[in-house]
Amino acid sequence: MFEMHRQIDPRLCFLGTSAPRPRRGSGLSFGQRVKKMERMLLWLPVLAGFLGIVSLAGLPEARIRAHPSHPSPGAEVELICEVSGGHGPWEFLWEKEDVLQRSMDSVFFIPSFGKNDTGTYTCTATSPTGRVIAEYHLETTNLKWLAFIFPRKSKDSAVLVNMELDEPLRNFSVCLRYFTEQIKSYALFSYATRGQDNDILLYKNRLQNYRLYVGGEFVSFSAQGKESTSQGWIHVCASWESSTGIAELWVNGMPLPRKALQADYAVSPEAAVVLGQEQDSYGGRYNASQAFVGEVTDVYMWDFRLAPDEVRSISGGWDIRSPALLDWRNFPYEMIGHVFLKPRLS
Ligand SMILES: *[C@@H]1O[C@H](CO)[C@@H](O)[C@H](O)[C@H]1NC(C)=O
Ligand SMILES: *[C@@H]1O[C@H](CO)[C@@H](O)[C@H](O)[C@H]1NC(C)=O
Ligand SMILES: *[C@@H]1O[C@H](CO)[C@@H](O)[C@H](O)[C@H]1NC(C)=O
Repeated sequence: MFEMHRQIDPRLCFLGTSAPRPRRGSGLSFGQRVKKMERMLLWLPVLAGFLGIVSLAGLPEARIRAHPSHPSPGAEVELICEVSGGHGPWEFLWEKEDVLQRSMDSVFFIPSFGKNDTGTYTCTATSPTGRVIAEYHLETTNLKWLAFIFPRKSKDSAVLVNMELDEPLRNFSVCLRYFTEQIKSYALFSYATRGQDNDILLYKNRLQNYRLYVGGEFVSFSAQGKESTSQGWIHVCASWESSTGIAELWVNGMPLPRKALQADYAVSPEAAVVLGQEQDSYGGRYNASQAFVGEVTDVYMWDFRLAPDEVRSISGGWDIRSPALLDWRNFPYEMIGHVFLKPRLS
């Protein structure tokens, strides 16, 4: 099979028009040639089927990749038109909603991403042997300066976060900013797995008192005197490392004395992640008296412990470079029930 593959000119495969060139100097008699042709005829359906498969596999394909995939306003964006298979050289033509764009290159560059840059881009790649077209819908899901509003107590309103992890977590950091009048008993971040509903839970137990749960156990932190900010928003970051079990809680960029729990534990990767409710089972069993009422913004999660400088940056509203599991600038959310996404007031 492999030998045959190499003998077939790949250009034939997707054009499908040219015939195989006859071989010169085969040195066979007429009778031998007829016999050989008969044998070839027998093989024809097999060959045709094979060519069909090869032509599918060998068809050139184009696709567009965007960097970054969900850009924030002002960002530099590259749309890259990649052609695989087929024979070049390729010429590129970019269009956006039928309007011809400047670029004749495989890369289309947007120096400063704005609202009018969202939409569907088409790249047409042409070579002497064919033409392929790829489409890409560029959009932003940047939630910067927006907040989820949970306006009243309920047992069914929540924000579901569609996070996908491949491996168990041995280190993590979770940060978010919240704004509330609520005094006690509410979940800020609930990460439940099938085996453990409180696999990760950041919980406000009472005024100035937090609990960080890992694998169903918790440590408490007292944030006395650290919660007031001029705008009323409170920023929290919690982190945990498996090797020592050390847990950190930072409030408004200020660290609290460290505690430890669940050394050597690993948090399961298959999780239901919820904002606004506390899960008493994987993806459900909410309890209205532990629901959150208020506003939440700047939600991030990483699979490592943030360095102190990074906590201070993120708490001050600066972006940090480390790639996140959850990034507020590209946040995979689904709102359920009575929840709203609105610009922040402060
Ligand atoms: C988008 O808007 C900016 C100004 O706000 C303008 O300079 C730019 O040409 C516009 N881009 C497109 C593709 O219309
Ligand atoms: C977790 O963090 C520790 C150091 O804090 C590091 O040694 C270890 O490699 C990390 N594990 C993973 C899986 O990232
Ligand atoms: C709901 O939460 C409250 C407050 O933490 C608790 O007292 C109560 O037992 C919970 N109810 C259920 C059904 O878990």
